[in-house]
Amino acid sequence: MNDIGLKAEDRVLILGATGFIGKRLVRELAREHIKMRILARTPSKAEGIVPEGADAEIVKGDLTEKKSLEDALKGIHSAYYLVHSMGGKSLLKNTEFAQMDKKAAKNFVAASDKAELKRIIYLGGLGEKGEGLSEHLQSRAEVGNILASGKASATILRAAVIIGAGGASYEMLRYLVERLPVMTCPRWIRTRIQPIAVQDVVRYLSGCLKNPETAGQTYDIGGPDILTYKSMMEKYAEARGLAKRIIIDLPFITPSLSAYWVDLVTPIPSGIAHPLIEGMKNEVICKDNRIDDFVPIEKTSFMDAVKIAFSEETGGPGVSGF
Ligand SMILES: NC(=O)c1ccc[n+]([C@@H]2O[C@H](COP(=O)([O-])OP(=O)(O)OC[C@H]3O[C@@H](n4cnc5c(N)ncnc54)[C@H](OP(=O)(O)O)[C@@H]3O)[C@@H](O)[C@H]2O)c1
Repeated sequence: MNDIGLKAEDRVLILGATGFIGKRLVRELAREHIKMRILARTPSKAEGIVPEGADAEIVKGDLTEKKSLEDALKGIHSAYYLVHSMGGKSLLKNTEFAQMDKKAAKNFVAASDKAELKRIIYLGGLGEKGEGLSEHLQSRAEVGNILASGKASATILRAAVIIGAGGASYEMLRYLVERLPVMTCPRWIRTRIQPIAVQDVVRYLSGCLKNPETAGQTYDIGGPDILTYKSMMEKYAEARGLAKRIIIDLPFITPSLSAYWVDLVTPIPSGIAHPLIEGMKNEVICKDNRIDDFVPIEKTSFMDAVKIAFSEETGGPGVSGF
């Protein structure tokens, strides 16, 4: 564990810097004067993310292209892995993201095993293993296992829905509640969930980098509120000062049917919405709070997280990237 602690001269690689979590993490690490290298498929997208004066190199690369990874890993101490492949607008179920994510993680481990990488910090999903686990959550766990199988020490953070402007799950919630005073929902509306504010996720991510004791560990991270999807919608409406929403659960509504409904009502791409809705059947609650021993933070309540997220949306619903 000697050289696992980050020193001032060390550089950190960010994968997924152009995403919902990644762009906020880059801002946080810049505030902490951490030297960064950003690997981006489209470097121009990454340029606007780096704050003035930050020491951040931007390199073009893709997790599906092994050579670009070997170059990007040269001289890197630790790497954040904040990547997934869900997306697309096909109305057909996306069955390919899991294969793509598996391949990407394997490529990264192969490249980092050849380099001097000491640590990987990965943000995956909560949800207990077993037959009923959705394809999306299974895939997140599989990626974590692959990343932990390499020479670098992996820290795995597991989160449920993350509340923040531009997050796919949050935006789905926002559009549904803002647009529909009356909703019919599948029975999974009663599944329990422990959402977390994006600011808190970023604090945990940066805190793990500063704490070498977190290397090689898996932690559950969550906010202070345990809700159901139904109460989450009701509280969203309350936080926004909207009229009370009428939510009727109809057990015969299948996840596919609700996903097509989300396609109609929200601009979230079906390639993202469908796997997320399928995952609503799985309870996603933290099993322990061991992370608080190393990264103690004041947790943001769900209501405050919604208020912050909404204030970040500059022009109201429809302008956050979807
Ligand atoms: N959002 C949530 O509510 C939530 C909840 C729990 C866990 N998480 C986890 O948090 C992590 C980050 O999620 P996010 O919401 O920030 O995702 P996101 O906004 O969709 O961003 C995904 C990032 O991955 C990059 N990427 C995708 N394929 C790539 C490839 N082949 N090579 C290089 N980069 C690639 C994307 O780059 P481009 O810009 O080029 O597309 C983008 O920067 C994921 O592991 C996710 O499972 C998220």
